[in-house]
Formats: sequence, structure tokens, C-alpha cells
Amino acid sequence: MNVVENDVAVITGAASGIGRATAQTFADNGASVVVADVDADGAEETVAAITDDGGEATFVETDVSDPDDVERMIETAIDVYGGLDVLYNNAAIEGPVARIDEYDSDAFEQVLDINLKGVWYGMKYAIEAMLADDGGAIVSASSIGGEVAVPQYSGYGAAKAAVSQLTKYAAIEYAEDGIRANAVAPGIVRTEMIERTIEDHPEMEAQFRDTEPMPGLADPTEIANAVLFLGSDLSSRVTGVTLPVEGGYLAQ
Ligand SMILES: NC(=O)c1ccc[n+]([C@@H]2O[C@H](COP(=O)([O-])OP(=O)(O)OC[C@H]3O[C@@H](n4cnc5c(N)ncnc54)[C@H](O)[C@@H]3O)[C@@H](O)[C@H]2O)c1
Repeated sequence: MNVVENDVAVITGAASGIGRATAQTFADNGASVVVADVDADGAEETVAAITDDGGEATFVETDVSDPDDVERMIETAIDVYGGLDVLYNNAAIEGPVARIDEYDSDAFEQVLDINLKGVWYGMKYAIEAMLADDGGAIVSASSIGGEVAVPQYSGYGAAKAAVSQLTKYAAIEYAEDGIRANAVAPGIVRTEMIERTIEDHPEMEAQFRDTEPMPGLADPTEIANAVLFLGSDLSSRVTGVTLPVEGGYLAQ
């Protein structure tokens, strides 16, 4: 069953990790995918992986912290594929690993610019396009760090908590317009983001491995499948939720 057959999905941060896996999952399930990222080389690799498999994808260079870029990203979906059905606001950076007193102020602003304002810009321009058409689904990347305090991640965690709250606002404001908004809250997922952190802070590897009650780290496709559910009609009555995908971490 191709649950997003003929849909058009825009996925930010799709050059790597969960975004790339989600782009491939949507393409495998019948969607045309707009791959948006600041990393042109990685994004082109994602596009090539999809088209080599017979799928449909196009790259648009996008810095999600720049509203003009985000508007152009949405316009690309409409120009190239004729509409927009799904937006996955996935792009984010981890920012510094430091307690608040040692956390650089400029870095804090950068984390909010990308991880929070970028999501709001995505919602704003996607909603505009979806209102002009027949609705759609928005999924955004939160994190367990947005649900509970994960020490040394204050900027990241504050942005992720705000993403969950923004998701509720979008869900309620557009519930009558055929637009659903939901978020996913992954735990620890085996991606470049986690590998970078382990490289800089080797002592955190064991902590990451022991975080989730289920053994091991999540595979990016396990998050992608949750995004597919929230972005498709399989979740037609679900809106305003943040779905944990974290091996039981938040149930403790
Ligand atoms: N990996 C995890 O354990 C984990 C856990 C919880 C939540 N998440 C969230 O999942 C999402 C994906 O994370 P990942 O682990 O795949 O990370 P990643 O670092 O592997 O990929 C992030 C992608 O976002 C892109 N990006 C960064 N800044 C950007 C910008 N300004 N504009 C456009 N693109 C930009 C990067 O180039 C990269 O391709 C993020 O929102 C992250 O916070 C990840």
C-alpha cells in the first residue's frame, strides 16, 4: 500500500540522518519529495538515492532560518510538483553541549533561529499554500529534550519544547481547514548528529546507549515510519500531538 501515493512532501534537513531516511520512506511510498537543506552535496546524494530507486525527488537549497529561503522552498513544491501535501520540519542543529553559565549567547540565538524560528517559517508558508489548496499535514521534529530536561542542552531543549507547543497552535488554528499538525519526539537515533557529539564528548557514548529502555540506538527509518504515519491519511484524526519514538524513555 503506497500511503502517500501522488502526494508532494517537502522535507527539511533531508541531506542527512532522519531527514534523508524520511525522504526515502516517503518516496518509497509514492510521494514526490522536495529535499531541502543547506548541505547541497548531501542533499544531491539523497535525491540520487531516491531517483536511482525509481522515485521522484528534487533539491532546493534552503537555510530554514531565512524566511525568504523557506518561502522559496514551498514555492518549489508548487512549481515543480503542482502542490504541497506534507511538510516535515526536520532540520535542526544540536548546538553547544554546555551548562547555561557556559553556553555561548550567540550559539543560543543560532539554535533558536534554526530549530524554532525555522519551524515557524515552515508552518507559515506551508499553511498559506495548504489553505489555498485542499489542506495537508505538517510534521515537525521535537525531541525527548523538549519533554524533559537533558542536562547541557538548554537551547536545543527549549527550542524543541516550543516546537511541540507551536504544533498545538497550528493544529487548533487550522483544524477546520483540513490541515493537521503533529510532531515526533525521537530519543537517541544513530545519525551524524549523535556521531558528532560522541566524537567531541566520548564520555557521552555510554550515556546515549543506556538512555532508552529498549536496547541500542534507534535507526533513522524508525523515526521516518512515524513521520509517514503522521504525514499520511493513516493518522487522519490525529492532530496536535507530539508522538514519542524513544523506546519507552518517557514512560519511566
Ligand atoms: N539523532 C537524534 O538522536 C535525535 C533525537 C531527537 C531529535 N532529533 C531531531 O531529528 C532531526 C534530524 O536530526 P538528525 O539526527 O538526522 O541530524 P543530522 O545532523 O544528521 O541532520 C540534520 C540536517 O539538517 C541540516 N541543517 C542544519 N541546519 C540547517 C539549516 N539552517 N537549514 C536547512 N538545513 C539545515 C543539516 O545539513 C543536516 O542535513 C532534528 O530536528 C533533530 O533535532 C534527533
